Amino acid sequence: MTIEMGVLTTHVPRICHEDHVADFQKPMVQAMKEVSKTIYSIQPDVLVIVSCHWNSTFHHFVDTTQRHKGILTAFECPELISDVPYNYPGDEQLGKQLVEAGKKAGLPVIEVNDPTYVWDYGTVVPLRYLVPNEDIPIIDLSVVWAASLDETYTWGQQIGKVLRESDKHAVFVSSGALSHNLVRGPELMPTLSEQALDKQFTEYLINGDFTSARNMLPQYARAAGVESGGRHLAMLLGVLEGDYRGNFLAYGQSSGSGNVVMTFQA
Ligand SMILES: [Fe+2]
Repeated sequence: MTIEMGVLTTHVPRICHEDHVADFQKPMVQAMKEVSKTIYSIQPDVLVIVSCHWNSTFHHFVDTTQRHKGILTAFECPELISDVPYNYPGDEQLGKQLVEAGKKAGLPVIEVNDPTYVWDYGTVVPLRYLVPNEDIPIIDLSVVWAASLDETYTWGQQIGKVLRESDKHAVFVSSGALSHNLVRGPELMPTLSEQALDKQFTEYLINGDFTSARNMLPQYARAAGVESGGRHLAMLLGVLEGDYRGNFLAYGQSSGSGNVVMTFQA
């Protein structure tokens, strides 16, 4: 039916548990809670999320599992994310439609329908804030290292087409940072140059100038070390192709990375 809203969100591991969030990251958490209110006011039938921490090498994976249930201890940061349970419904039918559409477009898309698959923290952390009641069906997507930004954009276009042609109301979430040249020190901001690039990219999104955002992305992704090489952003731009504008809610740091919380509505 329609993509009711797009979301670009952070998933920095230090916000996994709300009672441990540092002051400098609280505005991002507050913004995610605002986004959650909007999501619940929309009451979507499904939330599709791409996570920069589900890194696949060759294939675009679609998690069509009907019940996503597990306990996450993040292998990158078990000191921050350990023994975190989650239990969300899935949408096998729509997930399969996404797989089919991707294959028809000639893309190497593979269905993952496996209750033993454990989610990554780029999926779990934002959903703890965006869908805290665990009551909206989720479809999880990977970012693919062998896929160029253009291929990832094309995959995003196919996803957007399926969601628009479905009779379901959907929200699409892109989980990942902007600049991402990580350094030790959680409180450290990106460099001034990286912040300037993040700001310019964000301004294009706010102005609905997705063409410029897409044109900027390849060089920006290299210079600022954008998370997942910018693939989560390419996918978001492909999915939201059309008349969407960004609404800026927060920008914050984590170990030298720049993280934004934004929504997109037509
Ligand atoms: Fe990350």
